[in-house]
Amino acid sequence: MESPFFLLTILLFLTSSAAAAATSKPGASHDLVRSSCVHASYPTLCFRTLSSYSGAASTPRDLAQAAVKVSLSRASKVSTYLTTSVTGKSKRERVALGDCVEQMSDSMDELSKTLRELKHLRDETFEFQMSNAQTWVSAALTNEDTCLDGFEGVDGKVKSDVKRKITNVAKVTSNALYMINRLNESRG
Ligand SMILES: *[C@@H]1O[C@H](CO)[C@@H](O)[C@H](O)[C@H]1NC(C)=O
Repeated sequence: MESPFFLLTILLFLTSSAAAAATSKPGASHDLVRSSCVHASYPTLCFRTLSSYSGAASTPRDLAQAAVKVSLSRASKVSTYLTTSVTGKSKRERVALGDCVEQMSDSMDELSKTLRELKHLRDETFEFQMSNAQTWVSAALTNEDTCLDGFEGVDGKVKSDVKRKITNVAKVTSNALYMINRLNESRG
């Protein structure tokens, strides 16, 4: 007669393999996020922002799209912040904020164009499309840098708030550019 202990061991074994099987799919794309982020410019931020997409992102193309979406959504949030924080500011600060709103708007246009391009990739035009994507995301990064430059000579809380937020957008944008390059290489 088998001991109850033996049966319990079998039962535990079966339960844990079932649990492993159930989690293996998200685990696989989690691995893709991890291995893709490891050499990004900002690996921790990359992993943190993209692992929430890991259910949907299972290819380099999904990841590149997800990275551009993250960048777009952060740029949009910062843009709202910039627009609403103009009141009660000095002339100098209002000018810098106004310029920055324009640059973020350009940045968002470029990121939207990139996302559209990544959603309509075709074999025959892949290289051309990837080159467009790279150009636009680089331009988005440049706009973010230009926004920061506008605050040179502005002191205090406005500058430090804007700087922190824009720097964060620039980091996720830089990661998006990296994912686009990876997508381009993954094809070769
Ligand atoms: C994409 O990869 C190809 C082949 O490796 C390379 O020639 C091309 O310059 C790359 N394009 C971009 C936009 O990085």
